[in-house]
Amino acid sequence: MAQIRIRNTNERIEGEAEVKAFLDSQEVVYEHWDANKLPVALREKFILSDDEKAEIISTYEAEIKDLAARRGYEIWDVISLSDVTPNIEELLKKFEQVHTHTEDEIRAIVSGKGIFIIKSEELGYFDVELEPGDVISVPENTNHFFTLMENREIVAVRLFIEKDGWVAYNIDDPDFIKA
Ligand SMILES: [Fe+2]
Repeated sequence: MAQIRIRNTNERIEGEAEVKAFLDSQEVVYEHWDANKLPVALREKFILSDDEKAEIISTYEAEIKDLAARRGYEIWDVISLSDVTPNIEELLKKFEQVHTHTEDEIRAIVSGKGIFIIKSEELGYFDVELEPGDVISVPENTNHFFTLMENREIVAVRLFIEKDGWVAYNIDDPDFIKA
């Protein structure tokens, strides 16, 4: 289950109901899919063929289509990142830049871990640490970035309203202090 850390106070929020209530208050959509639906052969596997990516999509087809229908998402894919990803260091540097989009940013974690750093107008930046099964949608026009955790491995389903419309606007925010 996801955990929250509020950076200014170091307060942690744990437990599905508490995490969901906090994220609701921040207008961040948080849901949970059954991580155990993933075929055993694909669990914690970070180098994936196109067929294996298609198998992940078909495993969660009902959940993807349900979320897409409710939120107006039109397309989806699977991304995999790990130490074997070419240019992983450069990619991570690029990731760790506060930005906004004019669309939601949606990630459903399949394997590994990831973290969203999101700005709350009242509380400042908070971290959302995500595990397999966690599904998050960061609202449009909200300062945020996504990066890997110390294991540096993740597989996630991404959903988009319109892929071409998903442009990141970098923001130099004096309120953001690197942890
Ligand atoms: Fe983003």
